[in-house]
Amino acid sequence: MYVLGIETSCDDTCVAIYGINEGILTNKVFKQKVHSEYGGVIPELAARNHADNIIKILLKTIKESKIKNKNIKGIAYTAGPGMIGSLIVGANIGCSLAYSWKIPVIAINHIEGHLLTPMIEYKKIKFPFLALLVSGGHTQIIFAENIGKYRILGKSLDDSVGDTFDKVAKFLGLKYPGGYTLSKLAKKGKSNRYIFPCPNIDNLSLSFSGLKTHVLKVIKSSDNIEKNKADIAKAFEKAIVRTLIKKCELALELTGLNRLVIAGGVSANYNLRKQASILMNKRKGEIFYAKPELCTDNGAMIAYVGMIRLLNMNKNNKELLNYNIKIYPRWSIENI
Ligand code: KG4
Ligand code: ZN
Repeated sequence: MYVLGIETSCDDTCVAIYGINEGILTNKVFKQKVHSEYGGVIPELAARNHADNIIKILLKTIKESKIKNKNIKGIAYTAGPGMIGSLIVGANIGCSLAYSWKIPVIAINHIEGHLLTPMIEYKKIKFPFLALLVSGGHTQIIFAENIGKYRILGKSLDDSVGDTFDKVAKFLGLKYPGGYTLSKLAKKGKSNRYIFPCPNIDNLSLSFSGLKTHVLKVIKSSDNIEKNKADIAKAFEKAIVRTLIKKCELALELTGLNRLVIAGGVSANYNLRKQASILMNKRKGEIFYAKPELCTDNGAMIAYVGMIRLLNMNKNNKELLNYNIKIYPRWSIENI
């Protein structure tokens, strides 16, 4: 049994096939290059690019998986949260294909996709767990009670962690999206040449715009930015990671949980993974995260959650054969 997953919530056009026995069969991610010259995603261009590429990627994914169309038993697509024009492309293709094949179609929440991705590799992650979701669009601390049952304990009051990485990377003259490049640059930096404040709020809320402005001021007043770049990147990354780890520690204390999942694009960050592992070792708890290529947006995470939904749903559930196109640009994980 196979599920096809389609993800077009932002600027990556992604299609994947997940098999109940084999796991991920194919996972194609087309990264739209067009945005890098603007230093951020342009929604209209993203939607047009998805429309231009989705069929090509879909056909390639199915061909490479070497399975027959008739063995695909469901189609899962990202219905939100995300940019409306981008979501519409994936949802249209997903619902139309499912209608023509007369198979179930499942609308998936993008954040839940990220959150459950570590389970693809670690099947035995037990509920409940604490999740730190750090992506380009969201920064949330989540109490994950069970599949489909989540409570947001804290979130960013302003910029997301991914967006903060991208903005600081842009100030440093790095290409969009700059999170990965910035963290590579930080590896070459000297420790403690700069010390940036950890955005510190005494609860589970987060805030990163102050840190971003502070780093921008330091960059602007630096008389030799080329020479200081790596040191600034290192201090910035350290401030972000320390803040996130402190918040996770507080959330674990408050909830009594001792199992932590980190997910979303920024969870590919080496230092975040390392410090989270140190924290959980110290607490004799468990830590889970996905392979770096599955941390950022992909179709496999959508196909995987689609497979779970399909297996958990009653076959007579009429909703599965309802081909109305569903889009929820501001869909909270609490309302699945
Ligand atoms: O989850 P994702 O692919 O897209 C959204 O759902 O928003 O996350 C993308 C974000 C970008 O901001 C990117 O710069 C950041 O993840 N990112 C990283 C790293 N790899 C990707 N940030 C820090 N370190 C990394 N290694
Ligand atoms: Zn994402």
